[in-house]
Amino acid sequence: MTDLKALRADFIKTLNSYYDKEEIINFFSWLAEDILELKTHQLLLNKEVNLDENKLAKFKSATERLQRQEPIQHILGYTEFFGLKIKVDSSVLIPRPETEELVQWVIDDYSAKNHQFSLIDLGTGSGCIPIALARQLPQAKIKALDVSKEALSLAAINSKENNVEIELIEEDILELEYLQEVDVLVSNPPYVKYDEQEGMSNNVLKNEPHVALFVYDDDPLVFYRKIAELSLKQKKRPVIYVEVSQYLANETRDLFINYGFDQVELRKDFRGNDRMLKAY
Ligand SMILES: C[S@@+](CC[C@H](N)C(=O)[O-])C[C@H]1O[C@@H](n2cnc3c(N)ncnc32)[C@H](O)[C@@H]1O
Repeated sequence: MTDLKALRADFIKTLNSYYDKEEIINFFSWLAEDILELKTHQLLLNKEVNLDENKLAKFKSATERLQRQEPIQHILGYTEFFGLKIKVDSSVLIPRPETEELVQWVIDDYSAKNHQFSLIDLGTGSGCIPIALARQLPQAKIKALDVSKEALSLAAINSKENNVEIELIEEDILELEYLQEVDVLVSNPPYVKYDEQEGMSNNVLKNEPHVALFVYDDDPLVFYRKIAELSLKQKKRPVIYVEVSQYLANETRDLFINYGFDQVELRKDFRGNDRMLKAY
């Protein structure tokens, strides 16, 4: 029999110097449910449980990987996004909670519309955005584009496992001359300046693809400029929803205003930072 209280105390002690306590407790619950296959009531009771050697060995290996600062989502092979299980690996950005808020904004604006409309997600990574949107907006015809073949393969698996149909396109956004006509354009493009690396954790820098994160310091809004230009070339301008850098939110808003978009709205995320923008 394994004493859960002792297992938990030992886990906290082992990871104490790497993470804060609240995070360690969350990791424990996640691993206990996923690897040890324990139910919430067993965790709450904190009593002795019967665990086989195989599960305990997996738990130990996961703890060691956490010590090496590997993201828990890579250890488990998935994350949760908008209540869906999304597979992740080192070829894609791990979906962030603030991106769920961008998805919610689109859903709030479109769920009441009954007619079919088209939507594209630029820089789709794991496919988290179009998959969550496809589940909530069955009237949308959805495409998703990325430059990374590996990311698109994972997005294909994720859309299949979540029972949605998305057209996946391999293209470099910055090389596109035109975009097929769409009603809605969503994007969480790379927007972190290389000079922000110092303040970032190793956990992110060593494990997430730099192509998904970084833009050159002298042109950090390059993707937003391209998104604005591609949209202006369409017969009817799409409604644009983008995630933005909290440090460049005003500059990003001004960019869309300067391109002639009359409706430009910035929104804060749950942490109170300007992180989302809608333009049309
Ligand atoms: C910030 S990540 C967003 C991933 C996902 N949409 C999410 O929200 O979790 C940016 C994505 O853009 C892709 N990307 C980077 N440069 C690109 C380019 N020039 N053309 C197309 N996709 C690009 C990366 O491969 C990555 O998947």
